[in-house]
Amino acid sequence: MDKIRVTGGTPLLGRVVISGAKNAALPAMVASILTNETVELENVPFVRDILTTRKLLTKMGVQAEVREDGTATLNAAQASGHDAPYELVKTMRASILVLGPLMARFGRAHVSLPGGCAIGARPVNLHLMGLEKMGATCDVVHGYVDASSPGLRGAHILFDTVTVTGTENLMMAATMADGETVLDNAACEPEISDLASLLRSMGARVEGDGTRTIRIKGVPKLHGCRHRIIPDRIEAGTFAVAAAITRGDVIIAKCAPEHMAALLLQLIGIGSEVGIENDCMRVRGKDPILSRDVTTQPYPGFATDMQAQYMALMTQGNGTAVITESIFENRFMHALEMVRMGADIRIEGRRAVVRGGKPLTGANVLASDLRASASLILAGLVARGDTLIDRVYHLDRGYERIEAKLAALGAKIERVR
Ligand code: EPU
Repeated sequence: MDKIRVTGGTPLLGRVVISGAKNAALPAMVASILTNETVELENVPFVRDILTTRKLLTKMGVQAEVREDGTATLNAAQASGHDAPYELVKTMRASILVLGPLMARFGRAHVSLPGGCAIGARPVNLHLMGLEKMGATCDVVHGYVDASSPGLRGAHILFDTVTVTGTENLMMAATMADGETVLDNAACEPEISDLASLLRSMGARVEGDGTRTIRIKGVPKLHGCRHRIIPDRIEAGTFAVAAAITRGDVIIAKCAPEHMAALLLQLIGIGSEVGIENDCMRVRGKDPILSRDVTTQPYPGFATDMQAQYMALMTQGNGTAVITESIFENRFMHALEMVRMGADIRIEGRRAVVRGGKPLTGANVLASDLRASASLILAGLVARGDTLIDRVYHLDRGYERIEAKLAALGAKIERVR
């Protein structure tokens, strides 16, 4: 199995180009199920989760091509299957996103329940509650959701917890339902707005995305379209933290700084210099790195997907920072690995107390999920000696060529087989 070796001590300098957002590309690909015409996507990151989604769609009879140049062509005219098997869902929880489009197009879905994972229990009860409000019957049998409906109808759906893929699933389900669907306390992540704009290009009537209330008026049919995926704000954020932690100077190009306000304010708060010009950002890391508390929140708050990377940064802070994880109940696995590198981190339930200033030393560490892998690379960039990160398949799920991009900025990083 591949590992990544990082040798710390080099400030990152130069320019990096950001890829398309994995978490926007995934729902965009499955939205192709909603029409028998062709959906063309641009700026799709060539990462493992995208290839898993292609496999899943192919299994359902969708003609799906994904290319390394970032384009994808999807045609579901011949789609017939409505089965998302456990073998694929267990490797990528976002597979649950096929539920909404399958119900909209075929009125039937048989989708494996994802189960828990390294960051928390991650139930899908809200996805099912919404479909049931729209008139579907959802049973859980042998670990699968078995859903059916003679025809979905519009409904008023109130989420008691903000859920990103839950909002996306129900938006897609509602596009061809009979009447209007209102999603209240909906997620307002940029990935939701990207999906809404794709659906509008397909002929759907969606309003209010980017706010807590989304309205979808059902139409009889959707058509093909061409759509460009937004830049990956988490990849861009990871490079911004890489600049800050190494006291480097990095230009982060083709990103969307307007989607990153909470992180950028936090970086300014800890002493980094941040300059923005259109779709480019320049981040300069400064000494000292100030320790500042943070709490993860749904968008526009500080993203849970940046929590692990920020923790790596705070190990280098000049005081104590309290990091509170309010989205997932078990997203601190990386902390224990950072402690093995010499960091002083105490976990108290949903809070991590990080006492900065302890020099890190390279060690063999284990990545537990996608963002944890990224955070261990960041810690390795400032550790003395070599850090060897195991289970990097997590990294390959969501970061496109990360070691090549970091190496081009001067990082000493290589993949070892
Ligand atoms: N929740 C429920 N019931 C549900 C759905 C969610 O209780 O039916 C809870 C979850 O347990 C969690 C909270 O709601 O405590 C938020 O979960 P959400 O549903 O928003 O997460 P998700 O849609 O499964 C997406 C991203 C994650 C990201 C979260 C939060 C995709 C494909 N995944 O997951 O991304 O962390 O939103 O922003 O969009 C990643 O890219 O590394 C990643 C994990």
